Amino acid sequence: MFYHRSAWLSGDMRGLWAQCVRRATVAAMSDEYRNADEETTLTTERLILRPWKVNDCDDAQSLFRYASNPKVGPSGAWPVHTSVENSMEIIRDVLSVPENYAVVLKATGEPIGSIGLIALSDRICPRDDKPSDAMELGYWIGEPYWGQGLIPEAAREVLRHGFEDLRLAAIWGTHNVENHKSERVMDKLGLSWVRVAEHVRMPLLPGEVYRDEAVRRLTRDEYFGRS
Ligand SMILES: CC(C)(COP(=O)(O)OP(=O)(O)OC[C@H]1O[C@@H](n2cnc3c(N)ncnc32)[C@H](O)[C@@H]1OP(=O)(O)O)[C@@H](O)C(=O)NCCC(=O)NCCS
Repeated sequence: MFYHRSAWLSGDMRGLWAQCVRRATVAAMSDEYRNADEETTLTTERLILRPWKVNDCDDAQSLFRYASNPKVGPSGAWPVHTSVENSMEIIRDVLSVPENYAVVLKATGEPIGSIGLIALSDRICPRDDKPSDAMELGYWIGEPYWGQGLIPEAAREVLRHGFEDLRLAAIWGTHNVENHKSERVMDKLGLSWVRVAEHVRMPLLPGEVYRDEAVRRLTRDEYFGRS
């Protein structure tokens, strides 16, 4: 992915949902991190992970450049972007939520993908009272940048942030069982297979689209045992 569960919520509901995510993460995070700047920016060797900019033409144009490619969004269960204006709305209504980051290439300064942690989706935890100390990882990157290990690089930093700064107990992920590119990313990150959720409806895609989704998880103990 990355689209948020908030994608099909109204503006008011989206704000409420963003508050809930922030409340859950603030409750769990370390004191050191809690006192840091609200606008988190993470860095890796080749990348800067920073919030998407609302009402910013450059961010919207970059997003449209990569998210208008039909090989990108539908693999992550979200629809192709139809115009720069559509991309600008998506930044405002979907992507600019806590713990979601534009993946910016240091070499060019351009956002080329998106990555983040969100509240657990129903396919992972169907209950209303979802645990506040677990979140779900999602990501995508523009096709010209596939195969360079950029999302694994970004995701390793997001996992570090999730376990060290936010003090999460587990980070989950899902992918279509036929999405072998995403499967490889989660293999590299060490997320184990927990189960396959069969015949899951993809509500953002046009028509009645159902997929079998791999449900995967990395626990805090596994993360620290491994690093
Ligand atoms: C899945 C995705 C995020 C992987 O990001 P990435 O930075 O390219 O990750 P990697 O470089 O580690 O490549 C992962 C795998 O993709 C495959 N791959 C790489 N380049 C490819 C290309 N040009 N065409 C097709 N597959 C390719 C390889 O199998 C690779 O695994 P390997 O390193 O063992 O050979 C990216 O392909 C993408 O955004 N896809 C569309 C959206 C999507 O599927 N999002 C995830 C939804 S759960």
